[in-house]
Amino acid sequence: MFITCQNITKSFKKGDQIITPLQALTLDLEKGSFTALMGPSGSGKTTLLNLLAGIDSPSSGRLEVAGTDITRLSRSQLGAWRAQNIGYIFQLYHLVPVLTAYENVELPLLLQPLSAAERHKRVCTALDLVALSDRAEHFPRQLSGGQEQRVAIARAIVADPPLLVADEPTGDLDAASAKAILQLLRQLVNDLGKTIVMVTHDAKAAAVADRILHLEKGQLVSDI
Ligand SMILES: Nc1ncnc2c1ncn2[C@@H]1O[C@H](COP(=O)(O)OP(=O)(O)OP(=O)(O)O)[C@@H](O)[C@H]1O
Ligand SMILES: [Mg+2]
Repeated sequence: MFITCQNITKSFKKGDQIITPLQALTLDLEKGSFTALMGPSGSGKTTLLNLLAGIDSPSSGRLEVAGTDITRLSRSQLGAWRAQNIGYIFQLYHLVPVLTAYENVELPLLLQPLSAAERHKRVCTALDLVALSDRAEHFPRQLSGGQEQRVAIARAIVADPPLLVADEPTGDLDAASAKAILQLLRQLVNDLGKTIVMVTHDAKAAAVADRILHLEKGQLVSDI
């Protein structure tokens, strides 16, 4: 199995209060699957994405992602693991405003020992995949929201990670741009074999996925 969550619990301590956004969650996800994660605000969706992406660690339980038990990695090992295995896509793109589209996409590759020529090749391939080769020298403020999100997707895939996690990637877009982003994500699964976990509040967006999970109060309440 590509992702195995077994009895995952995540708690935060706030003063003398304990918040438990995820409660004994068990879940398997196959390689090359596209999963939508739905549920009310505060149900633990982002918390779960962050655990799958190795941005945060579970308080208890077993968590295996892409063949690695990531609960056993040290902080620095986890950083290196993330750089190789995870692409993160955010609702508000999070592009660096003073860098061009090209430079934004290049960023994750600067963490890797690659020649400048190899880096250039990979950035061009990623920009080509999102159909923005002609916008390489544009800054984020010169792009539409949909284009910014496509640059963010190019940045997420440039290091060729097997797992992409997306937190409401179409939440800030008009219907036409949202549709284009969803088609692009679908294409990454179908053509490149990526595994995607996408949080969304929109049933139409969730419909492009193979599987729809509903979270409520930190627990899985349905799996379609
Ligand atoms: N670092 C943290 N410290 C304390 N509490 C946290 C932390 N991160 C999340 N929580 C709490 O965990 C719960 C779940 O949060 P989470 O962000 O996962 O919800 P969500 O389902 O993504 O909601 P939304 O749809 O609004 O984005 C919330 O009650 C939140 O306040
Ligand atoms: Mg959230």
